[in-house]
Amino acid sequence: MIIAKTITELQNAIEANGASQVGLVPTMGALHEGHISLVRRCVSENDICVVSVFVNPTQFNDKGDLERYPRTPEADAALLEQNGCNIVFMPSVEEMYPEPDTRVFELGGVAAVMEGAFRPGHFNGVAQIVSKLFYAVKPTRAYFGEKDFQQIAVIKEMNRQIGGIVEIVPCPIVREESGLAKSSRNTLLTEAQRVKAAKISRVLKESVNFVGVKSVKETIEWVEEQFKDDSEFRMDYYSIVDGDSLQDISDWGDSNYIVGCIAIYLGKIRLIDNIKYKK
Ligand code: PAJ
Repeated sequence: MIIAKTITELQNAIEANGASQVGLVPTMGALHEGHISLVRRCVSENDICVVSVFVNPTQFNDKGDLERYPRTPEADAALLEQNGCNIVFMPSVEEMYPEPDTRVFELGGVAAVMEGAFRPGHFNGVAQIVSKLFYAVKPTRAYFGEKDFQQIAVIKEMNRQIGGIVEIVPCPIVREESGLAKSSRNTLLTEAQRVKAAKISRVLKESVNFVGVKSVKETIEWVEEQFKDDSEFRMDYYSIVDGDSLQDISDWGDSNYIVGCIAIYLGKIRLIDNIKYKK
């Protein structure tokens, strides 16, 4: 496995390999089984697998979150090597942003709601870095996890706007045994919080029974209700949306593809998860 620190080293390594099908897995490191499921799929579907590990400052709207974000480059490189990654790209901030990126993406409705509303500028930063990675790697396919459900829709829109150059491959959520969606941020939870956090997926899963029984509005209210008795939980939103447009639905009959998306603080740590009601 080659570790490339600059775009030139990265492009030389890809070129030297002579691969025709290049797969890319963009990550911010602190890798876990969720990331590795993407890597394995990328390895199996392409001639070479490139993984980027870069904590992208432009997508953090909260400075504390950026500072706290876990960084484990040695462990990441070892894990990637074990799982068949060919090239890992670990650039510095200066390498990716030699000058401030002033691009403003107009990503429409998919980027305006939920994370877009609660984390202003977040998706613009994601579009900046992922487009830079697409230009640098020129991948055939790029792999993204449904853990960040809205991010996939945003990246599809960005990719469409730059000419649809990459095939975007969505991959299922990997969960802990407790049901908690795996996340680099989980390492920031205390042991007690980690146990509590399992409630998030438990509540979402239970709410699937309400399709066609309770109304959409009642289902949202029920989910909100479940977190009210514990002051350590603070919900940003629970939205039930069309899985393609990400706009709110008001009736279970409004769409054939319905997803519930949650963002909730547990103490200082913000967690997201989602569940499919219909697909
Ligand atoms: P990061 O949070 O490191 O996630 C990298 C990729 O792994 C994303 O596509 C994410 O959805 C996926 N992933 C994370 N946890 C997962 C899980 N439990 N199951 C399945 N997939 C999971 O998302 C980002 O980084 C950044 O925004 C990035 C796209 C790299 C741009 O900076």
